[in-house]
Amino acid sequence: MKALDALHEAQKIAFSPFVFQTAYSMLNLGITDKIFNAKNGLTISEIADATKLNEYGVRVLVEMAEASDILEKDENGRYKLTKIGYFVGRDEMTRVNLMFTQDICYKGLFHLEDAIKNGQPEGLKEIGDWETIYQGLSKLPGRLKTSWFEFDHFYSDNSFDDALKVIFKDQPKMIFDIGGNTGKWAIASTRYNKDVEVTILDLPIQIETAKNNITQNYPDIKDRVNYYPINVLDSQSTIPAGADVYWMSQFLDCFSEAQIESILLKIKENAKPNSKVYIMETFIDNQRFPAAEFSLVATSLYFTVMANGNSKMYSSSVMKYIVDKAGFKCVGEHHLHEDSFHTILELELK
Ligand SMILES: C[S@@+](CC[C@H](N)C(=O)[O-])C[C@H]1O[C@@H](n2cnc3c(N)ncnc32)[C@H](O)[C@@H]1O
Repeated sequence: MKALDALHEAQKIAFSPFVFQTAYSMLNLGITDKIFNAKNGLTISEIADATKLNEYGVRVLVEMAEASDILEKDENGRYKLTKIGYFVGRDEMTRVNLMFTQDICYKGLFHLEDAIKNGQPEGLKEIGDWETIYQGLSKLPGRLKTSWFEFDHFYSDNSFDDALKVIFKDQPKMIFDIGGNTGKWAIASTRYNKDVEVTILDLPIQIETAKNNITQNYPDIKDRVNYYPINVLDSQSTIPAGADVYWMSQFLDCFSEAQIESILLKIKENAKPNSKVYIMETFIDNQRFPAAEFSLVATSLYFTVMANGNSKMYSSSVMKYIVDKAGFKCVGEHHLHEDSFHTILELELK
């Protein structure tokens, strides 16, 4: 790269919050949509008319967007979306990441330096007064809740259909869904198989939400779903016996390496010799596209500054090392369909 180009790139970093807030404001104010829907692009005054904003406001946003390659201007002064702008405006992964960044992380990221120094989620105080974000999930206000859950579900929903085929190949009768959250997996798996029972294990506040959700909205499966409130980090807590399958979807990335080992040891304590443990994660080293790898590396910083201060998105090699240390062997590695970001590690006791 030439020095002048590198200097330009360095300015994009120096002003990156300006670019981000421009992209976010243009989406929220409807500017991106109006430009997308206009076949031949729009002038600044046409955008101002269409959005009922003043020309000054539209001009500063549009000029920043053009300088950031989100928009391009033709010889008649009409703005159109570039390919990058198209993805900002229309791609679901980008939308979900952007809303999560704005609503959950943006203010908190200001405290990243302290989070790194102290090993605590120092940014969390910007959105709530909790020790970790997990105590607050069910209480997040309005838009924050939507953005957190859309982000979480975006990275797990598209994997459940394939995951069900992997987990049900051995016809389990009892699944423990550790970190079962709102009950999405419990609902999917009890509908997939008419005999299986699922126990959701999660923090008490999440269990309450999952129970209300399933009791009120899913009467057909409610008798086959059980609940087990637990803080897996509490040294006195135990994971009970009785499961054919222990299922952990996007759960272990909420913990440090030492904590992951201790959770696996808790499972081991009461597991049957032939129980299976499945870990589904979006591993950094198993991504086909650089955009996915970039999203995951950025998500690690969310854990650092907002979630708990000590966890991250892991590489599969690191997870396999911890699994081995805890006394399990990895007997299968399932890469889900090509649009999925996920891998399932299938474990048995050594
Ligand atoms: C990222 S969500 C994963 C949700 C779901 N399994 C999925 O695939 O979308 C992590 C879940 O772990 C739970 N969790 C976090 N810390 C926990 C703890 N110490 N004990 C029990 N559950 C915990 C959270 O409440 C949350 O429901």
